[in-house]
Amino acid sequence: MSEFNNGAGSADKKEDTKGDSKLSLTEQARIAKIQDAVLRARMLREKKDTTSHKFWDTQPVVRDIKDELEKGVQALQIASGKEGAAEKTSGYIKEQTVEGIRKEPYPLPAGFEWCVLDVNDAEQLDMMYNLLNRNYVEDDDNMFRFDYSRDFLKWAVCPPGYKVDLHLAVRAQKTGKLFGVITAIPQAMMVEGVKVEMVEINFLCVHKKLRSKRLAPVLIKEITRRVNLTGVFSAVYTAGVVLPGSIGCARYYHRSLQFKKLVEVGFTRVPSNQTMATAVKLNRVPSQPVTNGFRAMEERDVVGAHKLLMDYLANFKVYPFLTVDEFRHWILPKNKVVNSYVSTSADGTVENMCSFYHLPSSCVKHPTHSHIFAAYSYYNVATTVPLKQLMNDCLGQAKAEGQDVFNALNVMENDKFLHDLRFGMGDGNLNYYLFNWKCPDVQPEEIGLVLL
Ligand SMILES: CC(C)(COP(=O)(O)OP(=O)(O)OC[C@H]1O[C@@H](n2cnc3c(N)ncnc32)[C@H](O)[C@@H]1OP(=O)(O)O)[C@@H](O)C(=O)NCCC(=O)NCCS
Repeated sequence: MSEFNNGAGSADKKEDTKGDSKLSLTEQARIAKIQDAVLRARMLREKKDTTSHKFWDTQPVVRDIKDELEKGVQALQIASGKEGAAEKTSGYIKEQTVEGIRKEPYPLPAGFEWCVLDVNDAEQLDMMYNLLNRNYVEDDDNMFRFDYSRDFLKWAVCPPGYKVDLHLAVRAQKTGKLFGVITAIPQAMMVEGVKVEMVEINFLCVHKKLRSKRLAPVLIKEITRRVNLTGVFSAVYTAGVVLPGSIGCARYYHRSLQFKKLVEVGFTRVPSNQTMATAVKLNRVPSQPVTNGFRAMEERDVVGAHKLLMDYLANFKVYPFLTVDEFRHWILPKNKVVNSYVSTSADGTVENMCSFYHLPSSCVKHPTHSHIFAAYSYYNVATTVPLKQLMNDCLGQAKAEGQDVFNALNVMENDKFLHDLRFGMGDGNLNYYLFNWKCPDVQPEEIGLVLL
């Protein structure tokens, strides 16, 4: 660790490149920027690296300062025109073949067994719903817990090409009761211009009674094994916690739609310089959209809206490569699951689109309010109106749909509207991770991906 702590490595490199007379001033400025980014990443990693990770330290993820510096050096080489270096920044961390993958499932503690969940079977869907409803993600004060609806879960784990074998669970052998779950769905990703077949991992959950017994690593290893047997070796996932392998970190912002209720449940407070009445007034949203022709997305819009979105996402460093069928699955409106809107030109060309998904949270301890209804900003593209106007219309629709709050990450171009539309910064970060794929650190505004 000493060479990383004393800072000598990259300071030396800085001198070298400054002295390179062949580089123009712009190139030098660009390189200086990259060097600063490497230094920042390095400082960050040093902070993170104080914890050792018994499991994650054995996994193929970018996890130490050496990787970071190597990436920095490659970035410098690219910046100084040595194009050949570009290829080294992307690729598997660990090369594998299906033949080399273990054939037997990983063993579980005595009394437990693996099973898969067919969410199209009402009883199995109920089991998954109940495990998550009682044991999934909570806020730091344990006041709120995600309550993904059954319809949402079916939608989230059954996109085109999904495999039941990857809706993995652990149950008690005797009772059949579920104690753990993890899911993987296929999704090709674009990472720095390279298309990579991946899965998205979601819904990792261990029953509260079995926490801290190292069941999570077994779930992760078993889903990895099953995914690898399908010929896919990389994954993308997000988590609130900081773990090795993070490629970027975004922050949640919240826009109150039902201010009074959010105060009552303890989600927000009346600012000290406002009364409840002023705060309610300030948080009003338009009851009618301002954008001309704004309406719910329909099947006839799918091909055009898909093109609009994919052209837009090409501006980002990490984004999903959606086929038309995948786009239809993820974006076309589904009652209480996902809402999407478009506006078109006179000839029907889709010019603007916005969308949100529904993810309520249970109010764990509140005597009267059972839920906060939350809309989460999904994919938004504005080409003929300001993004701020489109999103203000979207806020109005979310409120009309019964949502109490509208949440958005500071990814893509969301920074363009967060402040002006009165979003407040939340206290939660969302870390983006890649498993077994090299990727330089990305800034939130370089991320074109929203996971559920
Ligand atoms: C996340 C959860 C499954 C972890 O289970 P646990 O019983 O707390 O932890 P275990 O003893 O089984 O395993 C610990 C290992 O899992 C890792 N881990 C913890 N949370 C993780 C996450 N969200 N994703 C991946 N790995 C995680 C830990 O870092 C640790 O590995 P390490 O020693 O290499 O650092 C469990 O706390 C849970 O169900 N929480 C509520 C739901 C939730 O937060 N899910 C994750 C959503 S991103």
